Parts: sequence; structure tokens; C-alpha cells
Amino acid sequence: MVSLEAIRTPIASDIDAFEEFLKGQFSSDGKLMSEMLTHVLSARGKSVRPIIVMLTSALTSSANQRQWVEGERNCSKRTYLAAMMVEMLHTASLVHDDVIDNADTRRGRPSVNALWQSRNAVIMGDFLLARTMSAGMESAQYDLVSHIIGSVATLCEGEVLQSQHAADKDTTRQDYLEIIYKKTASLISISASAGAVSVMASREDVEQMRRFGEALGMAFQIQDDILDYSRSAQTGKPRNNDLREGKITLPLIEVLEQCTSAEKLQIIDKLSQCTTDDSAVEYIQNIVEVTGGLSLAARTMQTYIDRAVAILSKYEDSPYRTALVNLCAYIAERDK
Ligand code: FPP
Ligand code: MG
Repeated sequence: MVSLEAIRTPIASDIDAFEEFLKGQFSSDGKLMSEMLTHVLSARGKSVRPIIVMLTSALTSSANQRQWVEGERNCSKRTYLAAMMVEMLHTASLVHDDVIDNADTRRGRPSVNALWQSRNAVIMGDFLLARTMSAGMESAQYDLVSHIIGSVATLCEGEVLQSQHAADKDTTRQDYLEIIYKKTASLISISASAGAVSVMASREDVEQMRRFGEALGMAFQIQDDILDYSRSAQTGKPRNNDLREGKITLPLIEVLEQCTSAEKLQIIDKLSQCTTDDSAVEYIQNIVEVTGGLSLAARTMQTYIDRAVAILSKYEDSPYRTALVNLCAYIAERDK
């Protein structure tokens, strides 16, 4: 399996410099706020979005700028700013998401709401969002900031749409695709296109990167939803979280599409019991496994990966293109 370490190699020094840049933007005087901030910043995860920004900036920068030396510091401050903004919008959205989902853990560590209660976690998420926006405005890179900032509203729409369908238990494939586009793929798409915008790439390149990020983001969320059903996943989250939250995701949609109306009603009835009844969760888990819901969902995920790789194949070979192709493979194969 491709490692994230190998994917990071061509931008290793830029990642270090980016981390310094990010830390410099986020600080607070208050004791509680500082504690929450330290907790959030030290548990940030894989930094997939900043990696995408930096790699797409390298892929689409003009030949003139492409005097890049592999592994050395090449990105401009504008690119770091884009990477910081998408990463911190993502981080803020997860702090709020854990309040909404009443989640006790995030990446195997206690969530902000578990440690400091929901009311402080909401303010923490707001603080991250506000700080991100003011860092953007202070930079005066208005084209880049306005390119990125619209994604916040899309994330909110996705989250509410998901809540609505989880309550109504009526998610169709089309609804699901809209939800995952809005809650996940939109920000990954913005990350990829922001990398191109940050190096003043052509409009055509920005559009290609937008489409690349959208396809990769759709695959990313489908894999996340498959992992929620997988017995061997190492996500640091309890398995079948989605079922317990009443969410109908692609593995179950694949099954529902093959069912008779009576079978469908029975599954939806069981789904309504999943919040409190472990045997209902196990019932749906088993149906999804035996009727091939996981492999059908994996097939759909692969079509998005193929779409993302096809876009990359239009670009000339470079360590950055290879890293992005490897990132596609990593996302498809990951178990965490
Ligand atoms: C994780 O979903 C959550 C998201 C991808 C987006 C959440 C968006 C908001 C809360 C809108 C507010 C946005 C900002 C910028 C403050 P999940 O619950 O399916 O994934 P999980 O299993 O990782 O929790
Ligand atoms: Mg959640």
C-alpha cells in the first residue's frame, strides 16, 4: 500500500514551513481558549487538504515557476495561506460536527465537547472560523480568499441536508451524492483548485483541479462510509457510528436498491431502532455484508478514483503528479 509519507516526500520542506506558518496564525491569551486551541492543533490528523493544495500548486504552476527542487521549500506564502485556510475550515467544521453528533472522541482522542462541554466547543469552532477568515482578509489576497470562503456555506448546507435525511430515513442515491458532495467533496475540490489559484494558474487548470478534487473528495467520503461498516478499520472511531446516527450511506443504499418494498420497510424499521438497540445495528451490518453492499459501494468509489486519475494523466509527468496519483490510490485503499 502507498504510504502518506511517500506522498509527502516531494513537498516535505514545504509541509514543515506550512506547519510553522499555521501555528503563527493561531494563538489566544485566555487560559481555557489556549488549552482548547492546543488540543485541537495537536490532534489535526493527516493534513490531506494542505497536501492537496501544495501538490496542485506545484502541478499547475507555469514552467517559469517550475524551477522547483524536489523536497526543498518551493511554495509561496499565498499557497501556505490557501492550505491553512482549508485545513482550519475543516478543523472548525469537525469541532462543530462533534457537538452536533454528540461524539466523545475524534481521531482516538477526546473531542473538544467531551473535555470542555458543548457550549465551549461551539465557541471554539467559531473562533477557528473567525481567525481563519481574518487571517485571509489581513493577507489581502482577496481573489484566493473569496475562492475558498464560499465553501463554508456549502459545508453547512451539507450538514443540514444530512440531518434532514437521517431524521426522515429516506436517503436515495441522489440525495446521498448531494450530501457527500456538500459536506466533504466541496472542500476537497476547493483545496485542489485553490492550489492552482494560489500560483495564478490558467482558468482551464483551475477548472481541471476543481473537477479532480471533486472526484477525489467523493471517493474519500465513500471510503469513509465503507470503513464505518468495516470490521478491520483502524479509524479510531467506534464502528457503525453512521447507523447509530440514523444515516443511510452508500453501502446500505446499494442494498436497498435491490430490495422489494416489503424488505425495504423492514430495514428502515430496524434503522429507526439503531440509536438504542445494538441487535438492530448488527442486523443491518450483516445484511450489508452478505448482500455485497460493501463491494458495490467500493466499485462506485473506484469510478470516482478513475475519474480523478484520468484528469491527472493530462498533465506531464513530475514527482508532484506521481504524488497526486499515489494520493488517489491511498484514499481508495486506506483503512483509517
Ligand atoms: C463530518 O461528518 C463533518 C463534516 C464533513 C462537515 C461538518 C460541517 C459543519 C458542522 C458545518 C459548519 C462548518 C464550519 C466551517 C464551522 P461525519 O459526522 O460524517 O464524519 P465523522 O465520522 O468524522 O464525524
Ligand atoms: Mg460526525
